[in-house]
Amino acid sequence: PAVAAVLPAGGSGERMGVPTPKQFCPILERPLISYTLQALERVCWIKDIVVAVTGENMEAMKRIIQKYQHQRISLVEAGVTRHRSIFNGLKALAEDQPDSKLSKPEVVIIHDAVRPFVEEDVLLKVVTAAKEHGAAGAIRPLVSTVISPSADGCLDHSLERARHRASEMPQAFLFDVIYEAYQQCSDYDLEFGTECLQLALKYGHINAKLVEGSPDLWKVTYKRDLYAAESIIKERIS
Ligand code: CTP
Ligand code: MG
Repeated sequence: PAVAAVLPAGGSGERMGVPTPKQFCPILERPLISYTLQALERVCWIKDIVVAVTGENMEAMKRIIQKYQHQRISLVEAGVTRHRSIFNGLKALAEDQPDSKLSKPEVVIIHDAVRPFVEEDVLLKVVTAAKEHGAAGAIRPLVSTVISPSADGCLDHSLERARHRASEMPQAFLFDVIYEAYQQCSDYDLEFGTECLQLALKYGHINAKLVEGSPDLWKVTYKRDLYAAESIIKERIS
């Protein structure tokens, strides 16, 4: 069965606090997104990789694809929110345009461009589980306890850490389920919704299977994460 991947890469990386969006920041002289693309390309059963980038960065992205000889990549315009970027990627896969080399997959993987250390085993696990349940996502044990503050900035309640998990990426979905969910969902969902899994559940009448992922699935967010990513890459090369 055909599997495709959609990579949202249209953010500006505000929390990183540098002018270059983090997906284009160099690690050992190579842009971060190039490592993520390489990790997905290594997986021969992923047929198409659709990357959502802003118009402003489209040319830079094309140069990266050429320079590092990335394969099976199609580019689409990012949206103003992550969900809108993902939706644009799904649209490109859904629409049977005569001039498009893309075809609708049975299962789609959604993965952030800024999580370069995704490996084949977790991709296979989420895809296999998505085929069975409709949706699946990688999770991790919580590092910090999650608390809910009240309006006046005091503690309202805390969640029991051992009973909760952090939702990470990759996630995978039956294509028709997630595409239908994105078509149904409100502007509010597209602006403020954080979780593709939650959207799929809300509109898709399916189950979302949770799959334990490795600690290296974390998302490059702050500047220090670039240093952490660099040391992981060095460790893997040596
Ligand atoms: N993303 C996207 N389109 C947007 C916003 C985010 O495709 N409009 C992508 C980012 O490029 C990233 C992924 O979604 O690959 C995860 O988002 P996040 O870590 O929040 O990245 P940024 O939004 O760029 O960072 P920040 O929130 O710090 O500004
Ligand atoms: Mg963001």
